[in-house]
Order: sequence, then C-alpha cells, then structure tokens
Amino acid sequence: MSRWMVMGVLSWMAVTTAALSSAQTAQPAIYPPLPNPPPVAAKHGMVVSIEKNASQAGLEMLKDGGNAVDAAVAVGFALAVTYPQAGNIGGGGFMLIRMHNGQSHFVDYREEAPAAASPDMYLDAQKNVVPGMSTATAKAIGIPGTVAGLAYAEKTYGKLGLAKVMAPAIRLATEGYILPEEIASSMATSRALARFPDSKKHFQRDGNPYKAGDRLVQPELAATLKRIAANPDVFYHGDMAEELAAAIQTDGGLITKADLASYKVKDRTPLTSNYRGYQIVTSPPPSSGGITLIEILNILSGYDLHKLGPDRSPAQVHTIVEAFRRAYMDRNEYLGDPDFVKMPLAQLSSPQYATAWRASIDPVKATPSATLVRPAGFLPPPPTSGDTVHESQQTTQFSVVDGEGDAVSNTYTLNGFFGCGALAGNLGFVLNNEMDDFTSKPGVPNMFHLIQGPANAIEPHKRPLSSMTPTIVVKNGRPLLVTGSPGGSTIITTVANDIISVLDNGLNVQQAADAPRFHHQYLPDVVQVDRWFPIPVLQDLRPEGYTTNHDDVADGKDPGVWGDVESIYVDPKSHEILGADDQRHHFGAAAGY
Ligand code: DON
Repeated sequence: MSRWMVMGVLSWMAVTTAALSSAQTAQPAIYPPLPNPPPVAAKHGMVVSIEKNASQAGLEMLKDGGNAVDAAVAVGFALAVTYPQAGNIGGGGFMLIRMHNGQSHFVDYREEAPAAASPDMYLDAQKNVVPGMSTATAKAIGIPGTVAGLAYAEKTYGKLGLAKVMAPAIRLATEGYILPEEIASSMATSRALARFPDSKKHFQRDGNPYKAGDRLVQPELAATLKRIAANPDVFYHGDMAEELAAAIQTDGGLITKADLASYKVKDRTPLTSNYRGYQIVTSPPPSSGGITLIEILNILSGYDLHKLGPDRSPAQVHTIVEAFRRAYMDRNEYLGDPDFVKMPLAQLSSPQYATAWRASIDPVKATPSATLVRPAGFLPPPPTSGDTVHESQQTTQFSVVDGEGDAVSNTYTLNGFFGCGALAGNLGFVLNNEMDDFTSKPGVPNMFHLIQGPANAIEPHKRPLSSMTPTIVVKNGRPLLVTGSPGGSTIITTVANDIISVLDNGLNVQQAADAPRFHHQYLPDVVQVDRWFPIPVLQDLRPEGYTTNHDDVADGKDPGVWGDVESIYVDPKSHEILGADDQRHHFGAAAGY
C-alpha cells in the first residue's frame, strides 16, 4: 500500500473511530422488513423510477409509440422537475442503451472540469484541502452534461423528438405536482440550498418551506425547459449559456461561456463480460462501475454461491465482501477518465486475474485490507502520488424496457443533495458539485470515504471518476435484467448484489431490490450494512475478523438507508416484463402497460 493510501486510511479512521465503535457496542435497532410487494407485471413496456409522475411521463411516451429511449429521456427531464434533489438539468450522468437489434451504446454525459480547473484548486497555501470548497461552493460545479446527453440520446436513438418527450416535464413544471413528504422535507432541510440566498428564496421560500401535500409550481424552470425543447443548443451556445455562465461566476464559480460551448457528449462502447452464461453489458470509464462489477463477478464465478447458503447468509456475505474488497483495491488505484489516463482494463477483467485473486480468499476469515497484496504479474504498477475523490448523496436511477425489447438503464446525478446548492440565476434549477468526485489531495478521503489514486486528479476538461453503474444483463440476445442505483461508492456493490440475488439466488426483481444491503470498498476496512440487514449475520461475521458498521448515514437525514434500485426483469420464457421500485422510498412507481 502506498504512503498516500496509508495517510488516507489513518485520517479517515481517526474521524470515524468513535462512530464505528458506538455502532458496534450499541444494540442496533431492528427495523421491520420492507413491504416487498410482488413486482409490477406488464406485457408492452415498463418504466421504473423513484418518482411516480416521472414514471408516468415515460409510460406516456411508450403508449404514444415511443421506444425505450423516448421514455427514458422523458423520465430524465421529468425528474428534473419532480425530484429536484437529484433529477437534474444542472448535473450529468450515463445512459446505457441496448436496442433490440443487439447494439448497445453508452451515452456519457458526465460533467467536465472547467478550463480554469487545476489539480490544487481546493488546497490552501499550506496545501491542505479547504473544507467544503469542492462540495459547498460554486467552484464545485462541473460543466453540466444532462441537457446535451438527453438531447443527444433522443436525436440519435429516440423516435418522437425532443418537443414531444419534454412535454410532460414542461407540464409538471407549469401546472405543478403534489409534493410527497420525503421530497418536501429534504427541500426544507437542505443545507446546500440554505447556503445560497437565491436558492433559499426559491426552494425554501425564505423560511416558510413547502410541506408535504403542497403543490410545487416552477414557472422559471418551465420557461427554461420550453427554451431547451425548442433548441437544446441554447444551453451550451445561446443566450441561456450566457445567463448560466454569468450566474455561476456571480457565485464565484469558474465555468465560462467557452466551457459550456466546448462540452461534448461521448458515445462510448459499453463493457461486456460473461457471468454464468449471462452477458453483462455495463458502464465503461469514466464510470468505475462496470470494470469493478466485472472484476467482482469474475472472482465470484469460481464459487457456487447458492451452495454456500441463501441470499444474505454469512458464508455468501463473507465471499462476496472479499470479492468487493479486492475489486475496489483496483478501482481506487487505477481508474479515471479514459481520455486522460491509460487503464489496464483487459487485465483487470481477465478470468486468470480473477482466479489469482480467488486464491487469496480464506474460506472463513476476513483478509485485512492492510495485508492484501495484489496478485503479481498481471497489472502495471498503479500511478503514484495522487489521492482521493469526493462523492456525495444525490443521484437517481431509472430503467425502461419497451415492447420491442429495447432497454435503457440511466443513472444521473447532482452529486450532493441539490448539488452545491447554487441556483442557475433565473433559470430555475440547481447546479451540481461533481468536482468533488475528483481527487482533491493525496491521502484525503472523499465524501464517500473512498481513497483513490492520481489517475483521478483534476485537469481542465477532464471528467471525474464516477461509481454510477447502469447495467443490462442479457440472456439469449434479449434483455433479462435492467438495473442500477444511486449511492456514491456503494452503487457498484448494490448493483452487484442485485445481479447476484437474481441470477445466483433466484430472488425476484422486487425481492432483489429490497434485499438488505451490504458494502465493502477496501478502505476503510469496514463492512457497511443498511438498517434492514440481519443482525445475526453480523454476529456471525465479526469473529472472522470483520469490523462492521450497522447504521452508517448514507442518504442525508435518513440513517442507514442507501441506494435505490429501480430495475426491470424480463421473463425469458413468457416475456412478461416485471418492474421493481425499491421500497426504501415511498413516492416511486413501476409503471407498465
Ligand atoms: O458519480 C458518482 O459516483 C457520484 N457523484 C454519485 C453520487 C451518488 O450516487 C449520491 N447518491 N446517493
């Protein structure tokens, strides 16, 4: 382990030791299991998202003859209205598309660092990270990619045209929608919004916040969406670009009109691999998700997981955690923006490498991360003298399958709840703090406690490494499982667990989405579990050398809840389409027909 990594672990441990030890000594609360309804079944198409008006927007497109991409773009714009803490036009994301002809595409609309960004931009004169600078100021804003990405996807792979697919979002912004408790309360309590006077006025009505049951009408956002529907290019080149750059600079941000004009969507080739005879189609860099997922599944392919015990049994959890630990060691050191760094992707995903990793896994005992040694002879040495990436708490996933078998898995994000909190002038939306996903300084863990390498250092026009992992599992040429999740560094393990629950353990798609979560990311050397995780399993794991944390705060004010799997399963025999909306949140919908 390199010196910067050791420093990172020590500083993280110092901050969190108290929290971890109290989590282990206190008797954790036992939460009632999630309701776990049967999945929603349909024949012709399915849209799942965390917010039901947005799911309906997608369904409307499918019923009007649109394909999965039309529906996904409609959902993307609708969530920007109805789920403002994560749905966005001020952020960025990834859309994984698999058309029924078998072709797949990865639309990378991740934010980019502005031209004036530099590796040390968040450091003070003593070279210390300035707390909050990469999360809570306008300097945290990356060039937003969502408008370009959704418009590109619609133009290239959709059928209905932007005006049509944006109509539901414009309607929802103009006429308003009824705020559910969770959205109203996160808007009312957001510290990010409170930080910027304009945002505080706009979203929190200066101390008279919206409540559950209120109608949220957003005329400024409606006007912005109408201008985008007429010509999406205004966001990057037109008068809207001017307004946007001016608003960001007024708040002290770096993004210029030239930065916006230079932004380009990248249509990349997805990564593919094989797991137990299923094809995994997943996210390439600048997502770290796909390659890490492949490495995890490659390691696990050497075990008959089901024989070890049922879903979430101690022996399965142990084996899966050891695969997570090893794959994240590689993730954290090697990965970055493929347009800036060379990565040994072929070696990382090779079955021989996975076999070598497996040889280091004890069948019962934890391998302490501090003693873990990467198998020799496979990879070049990782880049040195870099550091960490910061990640935060708001992102959202939606999935679509249409009647032809086209499938879309999309994850997009503002990074933090309401991004950095800054409002885009009079345009009615908030801006991301995605710059925090870069390495701010060697040895300083990020918001998600990830200790990462210099491959992810800040450079002008570079895209920060992401954990977002939209994924499609294919069987016999047809989509079988379309999945993904928010959750920062936990996204990849949530997606892996979802796939394992369905493919190895035979859970249905809803049971898999609702199954208790567990996560390990190499460093810190802690098994993090959500509040539904069975305590006896933890009790079984601890004597084998695991430090566990039962109640980590992962999603803002809701301790012990992280991730939000919004996934679809297509029955390979009956072709019935089954949608699952994660029951951890209460305002989403699987909408099918
Ligand atoms: O791209 C990433 O990996 C992060 N910005 C995602 C943040 C996230 O998932 C927060 N959501 N709960």
